Amino acid sequence: LANEFEKHNVELNNLDNISIHNNDASIFLRLNRGEFDVIDIDPFGTPSPFLDSAGYCARRESLLCVTATDTSALCGTYKEPCIRKYNSKPYKSEYCHETGIRILVGFCALTLSKYAKCIEVLLSHSTEHYMRLYLKVKKGSKKSDKSLTNIGYISHCKECMYRECNKGLATAIPAFCPECGEKLIHAGPLWLGEIQNKEFISDMIDESENKKLNSEKQLLKLLNACLIESESPATFYDVHSICRYLKISAPKLDLIFEKIIENGYEAEKTHFSPTGIKTNAPINEIKKILLKLNNG
Ligand SMILES: C[S@@+](CC[C@H](N)C(=O)[O-])C[C@H]1O[C@@H](n2cnc3c(N)ncnc32)[C@H](O)[C@@H]1O
Ligand SMILES: [Zn+2]
Repeated sequence: LANEFEKHNVELNNLDNISIHNNDASIFLRLNRGEFDVIDIDPFGTPSPFLDSAGYCARRESLLCVTATDTSALCGTYKEPCIRKYNSKPYKSEYCHETGIRILVGFCALTLSKYAKCIEVLLSHSTEHYMRLYLKVKKGSKKSDKSLTNIGYISHCKECMYRECNKGLATAIPAFCPECGEKLIHAGPLWLGEIQNKEFISDMIDESENKKLNSEKQLLKLLNACLIESESPATFYDVHSICRYLKISAPKLDLIFEKIIENGYEAEKTHFSPTGIKTNAPINEIKKILLKLNNG
């Protein structure tokens, strides 16, 4: 039935050179290896079973788009499905949607590396109930080896919200929090490289602005948010979580950003959360700033 609708749509839009197929995606990809400029994996639930064929068949410089709707696995609501589907341990924190995106990217990078291919993340976002990646595929074993140096772990302290990132698939990761001594929780292996590409997103924004379409307002909002975080560090702090911990009411978000920057750190908003701050300031600095702002 879907094929009938597709044929109808092709006619309605007066398109030619469109071929419609009804086949299992993995088989179709393998039958046409190297033929695709764009591969868009958009299944129900996890894209994991299709990524091997997509990775095997994607050609140099092509675009690989990946959607995942199993966000509860990637975000760590359920740990085991994430380990099964993405071979990575998730952790449910205030920034778990970012961790989820990084697990998904990491899994794509590791899957493609089998075929001496690697990826560059052009754009990634977590919106409502799904996550979406736009990846540029590159070829070469050296490039692939280098790309895998972006795989690593995020270690998080549940007690004081300290976190640190360590790159390397089998790198040494600390067992205890250097701030409070609590046992750290680890998420990974996951992607610690860039998850937004400034140039690609800027070009998309220019393109959308030229069209000035109303329907593109939402898209522009998302793209601008992703652009801002393109050079930000991994993970972010959630103002409400820290204020709850400090037992204070949350100061105005703009003031917090202002103070962090005044103290010599960077601070950016994130599309992952309206109360999130991406910053290179350590947790203790942020706590001090929040307490100071709260005391007027
Ligand atoms: C979430 S929908 C994708 C919708 C489409 N990308 C869109 O935006 O309109 C998932 C689609 O994948 C199809 N599908 C499920 N398993 C498949 C498989 N093994 N091979 C090819 N298609 C499959 C389903 O029939 C369904 O139409
Ligand atoms: Zn701690």
